[in-house]
Amino acid sequence: MLVEHVEGKWIAAFVRTLRMCRIGPGDVVAILSESQSRAVLVQLAELALCQIGARAFHIRIPSPPLRDPVATRSTGSSHSIGQLEPVIAALSQAHTVVDCTVEGLLHAPEMPRILAGGARVFMVSNEHPEILERLQPRRWLQPVVENAKSKLRAATQMTVTSASGTNLVVNVRGAPVKGAAGYVEEPGQVAYWPGGICLCFPGPGSVSGKLVLAEGDVNLTFKRYIQSPIELTIEDDHVVSISGKGLDSDLLRSYYEAWGDRGAYGVSHVGWGLNPLARWDSLTMYDKSQTNGTELRAFAGNFLFSTGANEHAGRFTQGHFDFPMRHCTVALDGEVVVDAGRVVGLEIPQELVE
Ligand SMILES: [Fe+2]
Repeated sequence: MLVEHVEGKWIAAFVRTLRMCRIGPGDVVAILSESQSRAVLVQLAELALCQIGARAFHIRIPSPPLRDPVATRSTGSSHSIGQLEPVIAALSQAHTVVDCTVEGLLHAPEMPRILAGGARVFMVSNEHPEILERLQPRRWLQPVVENAKSKLRAATQMTVTSASGTNLVVNVRGAPVKGAAGYVEEPGQVAYWPGGICLCFPGPGSVSGKLVLAEGDVNLTFKRYIQSPIELTIEDDHVVSISGKGLDSDLLRSYYEAWGDRGAYGVSHVGWGLNPLARWDSLTMYDKSQTNGTELRAFAGNFLFSTGANEHAGRFTQGHFDFPMRHCTVALDGEVVVDAGRVVGLEIPQELVE
């Protein structure tokens, strides 16, 4: 069993990572947490910032009451700030916000104002520190992510196919493209640790086709590997049918239905993982309480399909699924960027080979 207490090696991992975010002596850094935050991450952030010589301060908020019909996980949309003006003001004036909220601020409604103040936001995913230790950001990943983002930004159409039967067409013209390598260097920017993902939020009327979740693909809201195939039909951006036998499809239908909201069936984001350090099989190694599953969003060569909120398409919901899928071929305007689950042109750094 892994115990969650402070370890010197984890302080060192935080020091190294926060320095990569260009935090230095005297920088004013907010550590944002809530009562349900993973305490060891908050401690590690504080100890690392002290070691760097930054001027750290804490903002800790009671976790908000539940407001949805079912438990939510991995939405990246924390409501812990609850529009509290003094909190927004303090965060926006910091050099960096180290985000230790449970869900993370990525899609939080207060985020634009925090960033507009010049703060950068560094989300520490709610993982056991061992996962963060293993997936410390590497500089060589940044050009890989930036190159992928450039290609996606320039593309008009993404197609996704697989031997299992997936055949999806996405109009990605003008879709906001996101992604980072696991650290943030510039004011007004956002990144999360662990990183290494490239994705976009397709606009309205842009996604149609068939998605077959095959054995070994992942339902990250449930933190389960798919064991019996599920076929999703997508029309006009929405999942309109879920077919398949077995517990996986039953659970999926049940959770979707609980929202009573067509928006929950809408496509949120599409993209692919680029991080060769991240592992597809790592979910077997941790209890559900120990991981937020961000590693599985990032493993190199997964096609990441997601349903739920998509501001760019005008859809808002807390119902959110992320499905990292293996063995898919992803093409942008006909150029293959992921070939049957392998990132085209991704050179494995020597440090990983040795
Ligand atoms: Fe997602």
